[in-house]
Amino acid sequence: MWKKILALFVGVLVGYWLIDDFNPNVLRGKRVVVTGSSTGIGEQIAYHYARMGADLLITARREKVLQQVVTRCKELGPEGGRYFYKSADMANMSATKEVIQEAIDRLGGIDILVLNHILPIPLGLWEGTPQNLTLTDKIIDVNFKAYIYLTSHALPHLTVTNGSIIVVSSLAGKIGQPFTAVYSATKFALDGFFGGLRQEFKLRGCDVSITLCVIGLVGTENAIRGLRDYGQHYLLEMLPAETPSDTALAIIRGGAKRQREIFHPYLSLKIMTLLRDWIPNIVEFINRSMFTVPA
Ligand SMILES: NC(=O)c1ccc[n+]([C@@H]2O[C@H](COP(=O)([O-])OP(=O)(O)OC[C@H]3O[C@@H](n4cnc5c(N)ncnc54)[C@H](OP(=O)(O)O)[C@@H]3O)[C@@H](O)[C@H]2O)c1
Ligand SMILES: *[C@@H]1O[C@H](CO)[C@@H](O)[C@H](O)[C@H]1NC(C)=O
Ligand SMILES: *[C@@H]1O[C@H](CO)[C@@H](O)[C@H](O)[C@H]1NC(C)=O
Ligand SMILES: *[C@@H]1O[C@H](CO)[C@@H](O)[C@H](O)[C@H]1NC(C)=O
Ligand SMILES: *[C@@H]1O[C@H](CO)[C@@H](O)[C@H](O)[C@H]1NC(C)=O
Repeated sequence: MWKKILALFVGVLVGYWLIDDFNPNVLRGKRVVVTGSSTGIGEQIAYHYARMGADLLITARREKVLQQVVTRCKELGPEGGRYFYKSADMANMSATKEVIQEAIDRLGGIDILVLNHILPIPLGLWEGTPQNLTLTDKIIDVNFKAYIYLTSHALPHLTVTNGSIIVVSSLAGKIGQPFTAVYSATKFALDGFFGGLRQEFKLRGCDVSITLCVIGLVGTENAIRGLRDYGQHYLLEMLPAETPSDTALAIIRGGAKRQREIFHPYLSLKIMTLLRDWIPNIVEFINRSMFTVPA
């Protein structure tokens, strides 16, 4: 009897896991803004959306690179696909407004806003030096404040389309990380802001979805270089990094399914997040054990 119940339970779980109810066709013709899309995960997000027939406005600081990404989107996307770029520095809050305005002018509206950019910073110990504080201000502006500004400018348009906001975060936004304390703080802050906003949307019947993406180590050039430059390259041998392309697909899928949160890779990050309040010392020890302070 119990065995049968267990078999049924396992069967339902496996079946649920096997069903893939993501249909890329739902993204055809959707108007998408992707920030930080000149390289790394954001660039791959742009390519996947282009393949799926979405229209795009991509943004980052480097205009030349954005042009190349747009060219590649045209190759990948269907005939008649619309791809634009706007170069902007997300440390400048006036520029956040211009990015959204450009999307409206070019695409006529916004269905999906993908907030993905981060300021690339070297790893290091936070020691409270004047240099640390100057950089702290800039990281908070780019990684956190700009996300709120972009959301505020896009919100009236997303409300019209019952659209989606996709926030790319990290395990560092669930468990404090050494050598990237301020980065980690901005990711926690995003969870707080968008968590509160999601609650308000439910309370006032606003049908805009918010998907927070909890991402593990991804082998982007900047992430790998960051670890190497700080002497943590052995970590890459112990912990296989996810590919930017697979990660981008997981992010797009979670957004399209209007999921509250996604974890990529799922199992290890979900378990770490579940355990963090129950046995924080052990979870932090496991995470910390991967790092060493350079001599
Ligand atoms: N890679 C990982 O291991 C990893 C792990 C967990 C989470 N994530 C998350 O995934 C997302 C993407 O990470 P990634 O590794 O793909 O990053 P990345 O390769 O370093 O790319 C960062 C993007 O942001 C843009 N950017 C940087 N500073 C900017 C500024 N001031 N204004 C506007 N754009 C700016 C960059 O373009 P320009 O230089 O041209 O401006 C680039 O397109 C981030 O939210 C990150 O936290 C990554
Ligand atoms: C900020 O962006 C605005 C709008 O693009 C621009 O006019 C201004 O010069 C920028 N400020 C700085 C300090 O770059
Ligand atoms: C903090 O500042 C010190 C010296 O100014 C520097 O060596 C260290 O790398 C900085 N830490 C971070 C996280 O930027
Ligand atoms: C958005 O959702 C509301 C109710 O949730 C619905 O009345 C409206 O038609 C939807 N708009 C679009 C463009 O789907
Ligand atoms: C520790 O955290 C980093 C950054 O979030 C992550 O990439 C890594 O996978 C974590 N390590 C373990 C063992 O959880």
